[in-house]
Amino acid sequence: MRRRQIYEGKAKVLFEGPEPGTLVQYFKDDATAFNAQKKGVITGKGVLNNRISEYLMTRLESIGVPTHFVRRLNMREQLIREVEIIPLEVVVRNIAAGSLSKRLGIEEGAPLPRSIVEYYYKNDELGDPMVSEEHITSFGWANTQDIDEMLQYALRVNDFLTGLFLGVGLKLVDFKLEFGRLWDDEEMRIVLADEISPDSCRLWDVTTNEKLDKDRFRRDLGGVEEAYQEVARRLGVLPEAGPVDLQGPRLIQ
Ligand code: TMP
Ligand code: ASP
Repeated sequence: MRRRQIYEGKAKVLFEGPEPGTLVQYFKDDATAFNAQKKGVITGKGVLNNRISEYLMTRLESIGVPTHFVRRLNMREQLIREVEIIPLEVVVRNIAAGSLSKRLGIEEGAPLPRSIVEYYYKNDELGDPMVSEEHITSFGWANTQDIDEMLQYALRVNDFLTGLFLGVGLKLVDFKLEFGRLWDDEEMRIVLADEISPDSCRLWDVTTNEKLDKDRFRRDLGGVEEAYQEVARRLGVLPEAGPVDLQGPRLIQ
């Protein structure tokens, strides 16, 4: 079935959904880093991120965090509620890494005294600059009540996912969330949107500190596909057929 494409991002495509108010989110194998200055393909990533995000969003729903996720449709697609994306990336950090280490000169791996939440303005041309609550409210991207709601959800997600990942031998170093607005009749609700996957989280093995996330691609560490597979395996969502399922569609002639 040909569906109308609504939007194409760096790692996903959104298509019109089967009913009004729904969309189909398609996960690509494409990977970018440093605001798309670095481009590549991580074979099977789309299939794995579809499963991993399905699993995590479903678990979050079960503890009362509302999300856009409806159900997985197939290997690379999931049905989601159509939301108006709030143009912010909400980052939660537990251990120093990445841009925080670079900006503030804190050694990667240093535990933070408490979880730190940061906001970035989603704008590719500007390279997603960090912004404060002042910027967010002044420019009307969200009001103080919206910010408070996102902050509360982000901290609940952090508490829950930290425990969930620890249970499978992974440290949740940091992660990025996106939120969207959903209208039910006249009521506006803020829900978790986008995806939660090794593209948007830093995950380190508890005992070896081995990186099992997109930093393997960003930093050319090798074993990129294997890292995504390992996260899926530990969460119990690695497709049964294994790598056979990860090749994407094959033409039968
Ligand atoms: P950072 O250390 O590069 O600021 O990244 C913090 C977290 O946010 C890390 O888990 C990766 C994730 N992230 C994204 O999901 N998308 C992005 O565009 C960036 C820069 C980071
Ligand atoms: N996804 C972002 C980009 O392309 C950055 C990143 O995840 O490192 O550029």
